Amino acid sequence: MIATCEKDINGLKEVGRIVRLALDESEEMVKAGVTTLAIDKRIGQILEKHGARSAPMLAYDFPGFSCISVDDEAAHGIPSDRALKEGQLVNIDVSAEKNGYWADSGRSIPVGVVKGHLLNLCETTKKALEAGIKAARAGHPINSIGKAVEAVAIKGGFQIIEGLVGHGVGRNIHEPPEVHNRYKASGREILQEGLVITIEPFLTKGKGYYREGRDGWTLLTIDGSPSAQYEHTLIITKDQPIIVT
Ligand code: CO
Ligand code: CO
Repeated sequence: MIATCEKDINGLKEVGRIVRLALDESEEMVKAGVTTLAIDKRIGQILEKHGARSAPMLAYDFPGFSCISVDDEAAHGIPSDRALKEGQLVNIDVSAEKNGYWADSGRSIPVGVVKGHLLNLCETTKKALEAGIKAARAGHPINSIGKAVEAVAIKGGFQIIEGLVGHGVGRNIHEPPEVHNRYKASGREILQEGLVITIEPFLTKGKGYYREGRDGWTLLTIDGSPSAQYEHTLIITKDQPIIVT
């Protein structure tokens, strides 16, 4: 969507605040022995308490309030009764709707003490997101975001997972345009003031492709390599974007 007035901006900030709250609380819960279902339940409670609804449930009938993906699961993991184990990397992606406004955010979180290469993967993915956010400015082509994200991934020696992209958001969970994590020469569309998008790099040490799991939802890396993702929802301005999550 294009946020055109104060009401839009406040509506997006409000749902963004709830998404962030749910992520902050679920991050606190991450430790060995906790099930992803318990984390998801808590997320559901927080959304309900604040008058928001789970976006994946609302838009796709997803079997969970949030997507929780472990290790080589890159995205759309289904919350379940399996317990987290020390050394794993878990990604929690929360998206929600309130009063017709939608926001989307995700984080990869280490379970206890993890190997250095996983911390490096997380740090680099975070930096890639930050670089993408800095490049997201009204008047610039949309491919300047992918260019900035890609530069950080290459410098860090990581692959970007092909086909997993950011997107327009605001009046629904997935809207145009696609926000690629690589430089696409064709991505010359100019970012408009008020455009609401997510930026969400997915990085891995592996080959950089994904496959769909047998449950019909979970997306896994093709070679079993762990992946990390960080995501924010933001509103494009002439200056730095407004990060609503
Ligand atoms: Co998301
Ligand atoms: Co998203």
